Order: sequence, then C-alpha cells, then structure tokens
Amino acid sequence: MRPGTQNSKTVENRPVPLLGILISGRGSNLRAIVEAIAAGQLRAKVAVVISNRRDAAGLDVARAAGIETLVMPHRDHATREAYDRGLAEALRTRGVALVCLAGFMRLLGPAFCAAFPNAILNIHPSLLPAFSGVDAQRQALEHGVKVSGVTVHFVTPELDAGPIVMQAAVPVVDADTIDTLSARILEQEHRLYPQAIARVIDGRWRIDGRRVVFGD
Ligand code: GRF
Repeated sequence: MRPGTQNSKTVENRPVPLLGILISGRGSNLRAIVEAIAAGQLRAKVAVVISNRRDAAGLDVARAAGIETLVMPHRDHATREAYDRGLAEALRTRGVALVCLAGFMRLLGPAFCAAFPNAILNIHPSLLPAFSGVDAQRQALEHGVKVSGVTVHFVTPELDAGPIVMQAAVPVVDADTIDTLSARILEQEHRLYPQAIARVIDGRWRIDGRRVVFGD
C-alpha cells in the first residue's frame, strides 16, 4: 500500500480497501480483524482468506463470516517462486490492496514481496528484532526477558525483519509458562493488528530508512 495524503472529508467516499488474509492455523487474529470490521473500528473488507493448510481452523472462522476461502498447499507447486506467483495472482485478481499475514507459516520470496510493495503486513509475538522466527514466546521466556510483546511490521523477504508499523509491550512474570505468556501476548495481538491495519490503510505514513513515520 503506497503512502499518500488525504482529507478526512474524502475518506467515506473512497472505495473500501480490500484485504487478503493468509493463515496456516487457528485464525484468532483473522477473527479479531473480522470483528473490528464488523464493529466499525476498521474500514476495510476481507476479500479472501487463503490457507496453505487444508486443516487450518481459521478457514471455518472465514466461512462463518461469509468470506471466500482458498486452500493453496505449497506442495502443489514445484518451486517457491511458482507458489508465490500463484498466491500473488489469486490476491491480485480479487483486487486485494493489503495482504495481512496472520499466522502464515511460509516465508514469502522476493517476487511476492515485489508484487505488493509496502502492502504486506505480518504480526509477530515478540518485540522485534528480539526473538524472530518460530517459538518467539518460548525464546523470550528462556532468555529471561522481563518484557516481551507484539510487533506488526511490513514484510520483506528477510524473515521478521521489515519496517515496524506498531508494537505493544507485554510484561513477563515469574510464574509464566509458555502458555500463560502466549495468552497475554495474544490479547495484545488482537488489539494491535486491526489498529495497525487501519493506520496503514489510512495512508498518512512514509518509510524513512527503516522507520515507518506517521503524519502528513
Ligand atoms: C500469532 O501468535 C501470531 O503472532 C503468529 O502466529 C500466531 C497466529 O495465531 N505469527 P492465530 O492463527 O492468529 O490464532
């Protein structure tokens, strides 16, 4: 999504931005986005939910909300590039303006990122750049940090390394297990992701080096 400026009077006249949400599992962030839209907190529409796994529970969340779902197993494609091309094509033909990864467990390559410049978001359950990759909550607990959190960032081909849109801190307490810490972080994920999507859709931001800077 390219940054731009806008006048608040013109916002309601603009077409509703279409989101494409990629999942691999449970879909609780997808649910939070769908609920934020229904509650009028996020002016967007989910055009399609795509899962690389047929058994992703999040597909039922989408179906229950009347959203089109697609299952695109990566094994059906010979190469990562072919998969990325298929994915980009499916999103493009549906008019998707912003791609939101919500627990999508596949690395997207340069071709996919180039197809949606500054228009792919991911949510990660730590304060990046700490604890990138899988099991971020376990990594945080094992490292002994006293504060962890959530990051929403733009996606680049490097894992969990794109410019940061929003973050929220979450305390780690002595009694924490991976489950209790994950649950506390997840609560903040559900709050933060719709807000971050709204800010990106709003268009009043620019990327300065690694920094996402908001305002006209
Ligand atoms: C979340 O913790 C998210 O931060 C991470 O994967 C998990 C997805 O959970 N990228 P859900 O499928 O949205 O419930």
